[in-house]
Amino acid sequence: MEFSIKSGSPEKQRSACVVIGVFEGRKLSLPAEILNNAAQNYLADLLRRGDMEGKAGTTLLLHNVPGTICDRVLLVGLGTEGEFREKEYLKAIATAAQTLNETGAFDGTLYLTELAVNERDIAWRIRQAALIVQSTLYRFDRFKSKKDEVRRPLRKVTLIIESRADLAAAEAALVQGQAIAAGMGLARDLGNLPGNICTPGYLAEQALALSREGGLKAEVLEQKDMEKLGMGSLLSVARGSRQPPKFIILRHSGGKARQKPIVLIGKGITFDSGGISLKPGAEMDEMKYDMSGAASVLGTMKALARMKLPLNVIGLVPSAENMPGGDASRPGDIVTSMSGQTIEILNTDAEGRLILCDALTYAERFDPECVIDVATLTGACVIALGHVATGLFANNDALAGELLNAGQDAWDRAWHMPIWEDYQEQLKSPFADMANIGGRPAGSITGACFLSRYAKKFAWAHLDIAGTAWKSGKDKGSTGRPVPLLTHFLLARAGMA
Ligand code: BES
Ligand code: MN
Ligand code: ZN
Repeated sequence: MEFSIKSGSPEKQRSACVVIGVFEGRKLSLPAEILNNAAQNYLADLLRRGDMEGKAGTTLLLHNVPGTICDRVLLVGLGTEGEFREKEYLKAIATAAQTLNETGAFDGTLYLTELAVNERDIAWRIRQAALIVQSTLYRFDRFKSKKDEVRRPLRKVTLIIESRADLAAAEAALVQGQAIAAGMGLARDLGNLPGNICTPGYLAEQALALSREGGLKAEVLEQKDMEKLGMGSLLSVARGSRQPPKFIILRHSGGKARQKPIVLIGKGITFDSGGISLKPGAEMDEMKYDMSGAASVLGTMKALARMKLPLNVIGLVPSAENMPGGDASRPGDIVTSMSGQTIEILNTDAEGRLILCDALTYAERFDPECVIDVATLTGACVIALGHVATGLFANNDALAGELLNAGQDAWDRAWHMPIWEDYQEQLKSPFADMANIGGRPAGSITGACFLSRYAKKFAWAHLDIAGTAWKSGKDKGSTGRPVPLLTHFLLARAGMA
């Protein structure tokens, strides 16, 4: 998608379609008011006759509106003015993008970015608009022999700002929004790819391909390298599969040489059958999404490289397939992690923590500023927070606060959960230093508690995205979350948002 930024009156736009908001109760937004004056009350008359109520999600397409030089005017309902906030703004942009794509207009000029949104500045409104337009039009149809093509798809979007003085800020925000959208697009593609294609080897190739786009260096550790490092826990997960495990390292060195790096770790289980503790059959296909943490780390690295953020960031992706092959780990097996701590594997389906713990230990060598892991770790997190909020756990309240704020700003929200010492006892094992499961109560918390034992040497946070990384049902597909949260966190760290 091509974007540009402009200011000026709606009736003077030479555009295939000018998009204008209307509040509920048929109240015109400011640009609609201006257009209405130029059109000698055409809009007001039409609203009075009841053609449009202004309810959120509704639209009305008009042709040849008098007094204008555009081909069409699209009215988008905004809901009640008093309740118009972030969520309503994003919905209006999404509705506009969807409708424009279906109307036959190759380009659209959006006056929605002029609206006041809960005191969000112009940078926020532009960044989010660019992001939402692209993510609304996202399709994953590479395996459909017959694609449902849009006959005249939307190709160019102009975002309107009220004042020329905002141009520089808006242009910078546009670049950011497009970079985040590209990162999310990569995360969604990787998530949606089936397990027979998106294997650990495939993820490693994608990381190498990313590094060729510039701004990133990639390195891939093979099984023998992991053996040398003593990653006994990670390797125990890969044993049941024909697919060799990979450990991906991506570096972005945008900061000063002595600036400590931020390390992002993504769970890269390319298919989670449960292993010998086999999962039930229903919806097992969705376990192709068990590498969504890895996908979000790769997507975030892509976005930050595009934005050339002045930070040092390292992405780590431990990747394996969890299968019940003849050499698979058995319940009761005891393995030694890279940290030296031993683990009794009571359930081979609690494999995410087994690969992440070795990645956390590996992160120590970078003397990190902080470490954030991202994982579809527990079904229990879906029970706790549903599909709305990502579970946030941390051994450092300042870091947790930054991530919560980033989620709020990105509209990709997280919720802070406790990891009090009291929960640790659920992980006791009679035979090893710890068990890999803690029983039914507080399953997402005991998962995080397990990880915390490998994150003693740095500020650390864990994002459980089991409920937020993908959607089931008729809209099945990867969401690309938490790429927006992570990129906003990095933008804030770089002092750029
Ligand atoms: N990848 C799953 C978690 C998951 C399940 C995410 C369903 C989204 C939807 C993870 O590896 C897993 O199987 N976790 C177990 C842990 C349990 C055995 C302690 C779970 O949540 O049931
Ligand atoms: Mn599992
Ligand atoms: Zn899993």
